[in-house]
Amino acid sequence: MTSVPRGRCDASADDPLGRREQLTFKANLRHTRHGWLRLTPAYSVHLVAGLLEPRPRARGVVLDPFCGTGTTALVCAERGIECHTTDINPFLVWLARAKTSSYTDAELASAQRAAKAIAGALMTRKRRLDWLPALHRIEKWWSPRTLAALARARAAIARREGRLPSASLDLLKIAFCRLLIAHANVSFGHQSMSFARNGAASERGVESALASTWQRAVADITSAARVPLSGAVAAIPCDARELRTALEPRGYDRVITSPPYPNRMSYIRELRPYMYWLGYLSDGRTAGELDWRAIGGTWGAATSNLARWTPDAALAVPFRGFERLLGAIAVTSPLLARYVERYFHDMLAHSASVFDVVRAGGQVHYVVGNSKFYDVLVPVEQIFAALFEDVGFRDVRVERLRKRSSKKELFEFLVSARKPGR
Ligand SMILES: C[S@@+](CC[C@H](N)C(=O)[O-])C[C@H]1O[C@@H](n2cnc3c(N)ncnc32)[C@H](O)[C@@H]1O
Repeated sequence: MTSVPRGRCDASADDPLGRREQLTFKANLRHTRHGWLRLTPAYSVHLVAGLLEPRPRARGVVLDPFCGTGTTALVCAERGIECHTTDINPFLVWLARAKTSSYTDAELASAQRAAKAIAGALMTRKRRLDWLPALHRIEKWWSPRTLAALARARAAIARREGRLPSASLDLLKIAFCRLLIAHANVSFGHQSMSFARNGAASERGVESALASTWQRAVADITSAARVPLSGAVAAIPCDARELRTALEPRGYDRVITSPPYPNRMSYIRELRPYMYWLGYLSDGRTAGELDWRAIGGTWGAATSNLARWTPDAALAVPFRGFERLLGAIAVTSPLLARYVERYFHDMLAHSASVFDVVRAGGQVHYVVGNSKFYDVLVPVEQIFAALFEDVGFRDVRVERLRKRSSKKELFEFLVSARKPGR
């Protein structure tokens, strides 16, 4: 299967604006439920909190159509603001729901009791291997004894389905995600996950190390879950190009979101260890299909689909010079040019869709990153501004937020606009 060449972007970074930590997910790790799982694409709670000022009007509802790890929804829930959030990825919808739910003392106590039994399952040195997910080359991710212990813990959680309250099971599954990633042979040095270089570690004491990570994870997660939230959240599976199918027209006061960037990062690829272990993915074909439905996805089958994709002739991306930009990328890679074209076609469909669900006078705030393909810089923020104007938003503004990588031209921007009317 062919693959789209990776754009040479996003390595380590300096911080010319002096605000980098405040504007990235790193700032979230110190925070309660925000730090439950380290999924790199999250944006900052500080940024979202700033965009909620002044507060939406009484009973005003906030929308995040690209929910990811649920940052916008959780910031709203902490502040007593109602929020609806959608995502194409069912694992992320589940996570956002779990992060923004209220947990009773009884649900917390039953999660803690079950967690003790699961720690016991981690410690048992049983030879027979329980069910393992069909994750490609799983042996690269975990050592044999780690894998066997994780399989025992997963089976112990699965046996409690239907016997424990689902809220308690959600907390155990989040702790399990923390456990599996903490003991995986991966590194987070760059924007995305990669396999660590430092070869096979000793297997001695693996089970007790896993059990102690598990106990810490459960303690952290249940203590954060105890903190009550005051804003109602609905996390809804929905394609951001078709928001009208799931959401009320003209229902939203403010949209605060960060869509996928056109940088070839696949969220399905990044999230595959969690998604396979929790049963959201069962094989490479379903993974590729989901990635194809995601905007900007290029993993597995999504790449071959892209080679066959043709734009809808009735839709034109309303940015002067767009065709020239595609032509310049196509000189080196026709497939990458098509990738960029499809990305903005999808975002045009999304912009029209979001316009319909925002109330007159409502505001939208999008955090977006520009991209570079070979030596062609794609002014993503300017193109978003043009899309918003085209579908009917007004007062479109672009603000540069931070530098994103060692490449001097790559930045994150805030694109904001208002729907005309009261
Ligand atoms: C940059 S991430 C959002 C990160 C989020 N702000 C956070 O703090 O975690 C973009 C999200 O868009 C979602 N997405 C991609 N294509 C989508 C589509 N067609 N409809 C809805 N969501 C989509 C991805 O699954 C991903 O979760």
